[in-house]
Amino acid sequence: MIELDRHHSDRMGNLSVVQNGETVPFDVKRVYYLYDVPGGESRGAHAHRELSQLIIAVSGSFRVTLDDGIVKRSFILNRPYLGLYVKPGIWRDLDDFSSGAVCMVLASEVYQEADYIRDYDDFLKYRDIHKDE
Ligand code: TYD
Repeated sequence: MIELDRHHSDRMGNLSVVQNGETVPFDVKRVYYLYDVPGGESRGAHAHRELSQLIIAVSGSFRVTLDDGIVKRSFILNRPYLGLYVKPGIWRDLDDFSSGAVCMVLASEVYQEADYIRDYDDFLKYRDIHKDE
């Protein structure tokens, strides 16, 4: 988890910043966001070969479960100043979306379908092949 700056001023409200070279260990080439996910639905269910990401609940809350093929760990994202840094080669599942949740993802590369691993058995094989890296 990366805690982002919260800039307070004498005006009401907060402002958080993600800046290349300071906040995340990659340069951001793409931003996308998930919203209007019905309660009970899940998203994700894939890993990336090269992509690094920072996932932020800019509104509402949801759960992200990360899996390296051996250990799974779940994170509740519910603060707009917390970012979950996801390295390449990690399976992720997103669920438990609250009403009004907005999941913003900052990504290190532009969209490439070939970077996705969408089959869990393929993911386990991929981890096995790359286990010494
Ligand atoms: P996907 O990454 O599978 O969604 P999630 O992991 O959130 O469940 O993407 C859903 C669809 O959106 C898929 O058809 C690909 C498309 N898409 C783009 O065209 N560009 C993008 O940058 C992203 C993230 C997805």
